[in-house]
Amino acid sequence: MSEEGPRKRPFWYFVGRPGGGNGAAGPCLAGGDVAMVLLLPEEKPMSPQPPAAPGMPLVDVDTPALIVDLDAFERNLRGMADFAAQAGVRLRPHAKTHKSPEVARRQIALGAVGVCCQKVAEAEIMVAGGIKDVLVSNEVAGARKLARLAALAGRAKIGVCVDAADNVEEIERAAADAGTRLGVMVEIDVGGRRCGVAPGPAAAALAERVAASRHLSFAGLQAYYGSAQHVREANERAQHIARAVAHVDATLAALKAVGLEATVISGAGTGTYEHEAASGVYNELQAGSYIFMDADYARNKRADGGPFDRFEHALFIYASIMSATVPERRVLDAGLKAVAIDSGMPMPWQLPGAVYLRPSDEHGNLDVAACPRAPARGEKVLLVPGHCDPTVNLHDWYVGVRGLGGAEARVESLWPVAARGALF
Ligand SMILES: Cc1ncc(COP(=O)(O)O)c(C=O)c1O
Repeated sequence: MSEEGPRKRPFWYFVGRPGGGNGAAGPCLAGGDVAMVLLLPEEKPMSPQPPAAPGMPLVDVDTPALIVDLDAFERNLRGMADFAAQAGVRLRPHAKTHKSPEVARRQIALGAVGVCCQKVAEAEIMVAGGIKDVLVSNEVAGARKLARLAALAGRAKIGVCVDAADNVEEIERAAADAGTRLGVMVEIDVGGRRCGVAPGPAAAALAERVAASRHLSFAGLQAYYGSAQHVREANERAQHIARAVAHVDATLAALKAVGLEATVISGAGTGTYEHEAASGVYNELQAGSYIFMDADYARNKRADGGPFDRFEHALFIYASIMSATVPERRVLDAGLKAVAIDSGMPMPWQLPGAVYLRPSDEHGNLDVAACPRAPARGEKVLLVPGHCDPTVNLHDWYVGVRGLGGAEARVESLWPVAARGALF
């Protein structure tokens, strides 16, 4: 370390093209591009360095790394944006999936009206990243959080959900103290048995309290049905959403009876969005996972019984085989700290016969007994995570790769998982 403190070396991580376009690596700068430069200490880094550098071949990326297949990711973004436009509904994708303003900006560039967040800290990071319209699609409890949320409403259009009258009073006080205005969605329990007031008159009574509050506006109904998303059979998912629609209809009638109207009916995830969009009642979709499409969502079925393949796997864990002491097993450097297993084990990608099992903190096992060609020690493999959201939250960096699957696969962009750990 020098006397002036640690020496720093510049590191390009994102280049934006005014008016849209993809982030690209530093050497590709063109006139008018906007570059963000990180200064990383050369010695004793206090936070993890990115596992890759722009322009690097995929095989040189350090592991375990969170890889985005940029080609598949962009097709997924476009697919949902086109779907929403054709269906005539608004798209407000959930940023809890990606926790990245880089991704949110790309969704908005394709027509999304804004994003959803689940946490105030996520919303703060989205607003700091330039997102102007954020719905916290969740209840917020606690004076400190509400003060932060109300302050944020001075910098962007902010919405929040409620399912209790005293929470309405708390939010009103926070907004009054901050001198701001918040949009408030009344959340109804459409069958998911998570948050949400009972549909019908109880929801209408809550909406009346919101509408009567000086610093709040009644912004509509939050009607997300979480537990329907991963129901495997398409007709069962459709039935769940049909019941949700009936609850929304009953609530709209109760609102009308008290002279109120809900202009926005928001909900839907990657498992059910087609049904909400076709309902004629929902007019805003909150799907999140479609951008990455995890292994668990791939177990859902289409109406014709085939696998739910409308979106492509675009998120991977890149892992190295660190030990191969017995023929039938390989040990990977990606365990519980690299990939979430709450929705099942990660799926080895394009490695026929291989099964990922028995993860511990830093290790994962690959059973390769049935592999026609088992990878050797030192080789690297791709895994599709079982559940994308909690896997993303384990990593500091997205490594965006162009041409994944081809011999020329190269790192194009590094995006920070900016809202990693933003749980409060
Ligand atoms: C309120 C809300 N909306 C939307 C979503 C997005 O769902 P998915 O990631 O399954 O598309 C979630 C996910 O849990 C959610 O909680």
